[in-house]
Amino acid sequence: MRAILIREHGEPESLKIDDIPTPAVGDNEVLIDVHAIGINYPDLLVIRGQYQTLPPRPFVPGKEVAGVVAAIGNRVTSCKPGDRVVAQVEYGAYAEQLSATGPNCFVMPETMPFTDAAAMGLVYQTAHFALVERGQFRNGETVLVNGAGGGVGLAAVQIAKALGATVLAGVRGETHARLARGGGADHIIDLGAENLRVEIRRQVHAATNGRGADVVLDPIGGDVFDGSLRALAWRGRMVVIGFAAGRIPTIKANYLLLKNISVSGLQWSDYRERDPAWMRRVQDEIFGLYSAGKLKPTVMRAFPMDQFAEALSLVANGKVNGKVVLTTDNNKS
Ligand SMILES: NC(=O)c1ccc[n+]([C@@H]2O[C@H](COP(=O)([O-])OP(=O)(O)OC[C@H]3O[C@@H](n4cnc5c(N)ncnc54)[C@H](OP(=O)(O)O)[C@@H]3O)[C@@H](O)[C@H]2O)c1
Repeated sequence: MRAILIREHGEPESLKIDDIPTPAVGDNEVLIDVHAIGINYPDLLVIRGQYQTLPPRPFVPGKEVAGVVAAIGNRVTSCKPGDRVVAQVEYGAYAEQLSATGPNCFVMPETMPFTDAAAMGLVYQTAHFALVERGQFRNGETVLVNGAGGGVGLAAVQIAKALGATVLAGVRGETHARLARGGGADHIIDLGAENLRVEIRRQVHAATNGRGADVVLDPIGGDVFDGSLRALAWRGRMVVIGFAAGRIPTIKANYLLLKNISVSGLQWSDYRERDPAWMRRVQDEIFGLYSAGKLKPTVMRAFPMDQFAEALSLVANGKVNGKVVLTTDNNKS
C-alpha cells in the first residue's frame, strides 16, 4: 500500500510517497481501508520534527482517517468488517491503510461523507474537551474562541453555539469573520487590531456589557493570549490549546488571584490514550450534533493524496479556511 513516509524531518515537499507493507492487525486492532485523511496543524510540526512526541524514523505521519473496516482482531468490539469508521491515532494516518486500536475507532453516521468525518475528528474532539472538560462551560455562558477561522477554532464556535453559549469569535480579517458567523458566532473580536493587550478587553467588554468572557479558548498564544486573559469575567476560565502565533506566553500568578480566574491547559491526545471511553462519549455527542444539523465541518478542499505537499503548504501559510483533507484511491471505489 502507498503511504507518505518520514525518513528525515524537513518541509512537507521533502517527503515522498512510498510503497510499504500493509500494517499487521493485532488482537485489539482494526485494519482500515482509508478513504479520507484529516490534515491538522500538528502534522506540520511532526513533519518538521518540532512536535513534543515523535516516534523513531521512518514513520508515517497523520492523526486521523475515515474509511471502511477491512479486518479486525479477535478482541475488537467497537466495529466489524464493512463498517464505515473514523479513527484517531498518534501517527500513521497518511496512508491507504491504517491499523488503529479498537477503542479509537468509531462507526460513522450512515449519511456522513468520509471527507466530513476526516475533517471532524481531532479538531471537534479538541474543541469539545477544551470547552466542556477543561473550560467547565455551563449553558448560557459567554465564550471567546480565538483563531475562530481555523480548524480547532471553527469547531469550537459551532460546539459552543450548539451547547448554548453566546459566542465571541476572535479572528483576523473578513474571510474568517464570515466563516465564524456562519458557524454561529454572535460577535466578532478583531485580532488584527493594534495593541491587543488593550483592544481585546475593550472589544469583549463592549460585546458583553462590561462583564467579560466566562470562558476563553486559545489556540493562538502570544499577544492574543495576553489580551484575552485581561478580558475574562469574574471567575472566568481560560484554556491554553496551542501557540499558533509562535510565542508561548507567561502569566503573573497574582493576576489569577486578583480576578478569581483560572488558566488550564489541554493536551487532547492524553485523553485519547488514557480514557478512550470518555473520548467515545464525546464522539457520540459530536456525531449526534452533526446528525441533528448543529455541526458541519467546513471542508475548504479535498486533495488527492499525491498532492499532500500542496495541502500542507496551505496549512503552513495560514491559507486554510476551515479544514483541508486528503483522499485516497479507495475513495473512488
Ligand atoms: N492541545 C491540543 O490537544 C491541540 C489539538 C489540536 C491542535 N492544537 C494546536 O492548536 C493550534 C491551532 O490548530 P488548528 O488546527 O486550529 O490550526 P489552523 O487551522 O491552522 O488555525 C490556526 C488559526 O490561528 C490563527 N492565527 C495564527 N497566528 C495568529 C495570530 N498571530 N493572531 C491571530 N490569529 C492567528 C490563524 O488565522 P490567520 O489565518 O489570520 O493567521 C488560524 O485561524 C495549533 O497550535 C495546534 O498545534 C492543539
